Amino acid sequence: MRIASFRIEKYFALHEFTAPHLLSSSDAECVSIADILALEPDAADRLFSQQLRYTQSEGGPELRAAASAIYKIAASQDIVVVSAAEEGIFAAYHALLQPGDHVVVETPCYESALQLARSTGANVAEWRRSADTNWAHDLAALERAFQPNTRLIYINTPHNSTGLMMPCEVLDRVIELCAARNAWLAEEP
Ligand SMILES: Cc1ncc(COP(=O)(O)O)c(C=O)c1O
Repeated sequence: MRIASFRIEKYFALHEFTAPHLLSSSDAECVSIADILALEPDAADRLFSQQLRYTQSEGGPELRAAASAIYKIAASQDIVVVSAAEEGIFAAYHALLQPGDHVVVETPCYESALQLARSTGANVAEWRRSADTNWAHDLAALERAFQPNTRLIYINTPHNSTGLMMPCEVLDRVIELCAARNAWLAEEP
């Protein structure tokens, strides 16, 4: 398996921590660990008493239960905790795609969504949005992009880099199209 480099990360590796003024990235003003621990009375004590040993590979049961509570249809055994978004994208693509499958990726996108899909050997098509049409979601174009072997559609909402949310009626239609064609829908929030 070969993974092409993500150009934005190569660029950031060169400039992110040396540029005098950083005008990109979504973490311009972060909370501190102390701020987060202050949200629960005994959180700091519980963190400091943790031992640094192996944990369950799917993630801690407490964390999985808390994550599942956010969703209506996911139980804690449906949740897998990953250490970064990148790892989740990698795991989902490699679990669901085979060489020769067809996948449609909403673009422009954070580049790993394209490169990791290609690394599976799948054929990757783009559902491209454009500033010229105010980043509208062209559902007819998505419908045309489907092939008989389309296995997965990847979307990103809120969207990096425009920050746009996919309107509910568009998302409903995307779900409908995937269901009708028996394709997985991977939505990266
Ligand atoms: C849409 C999207 N996917 C993946 C990533 C990578 O996230 P992580 O650094 O948590 O792997 C980013 C980072 O900005 C992103 O915006």
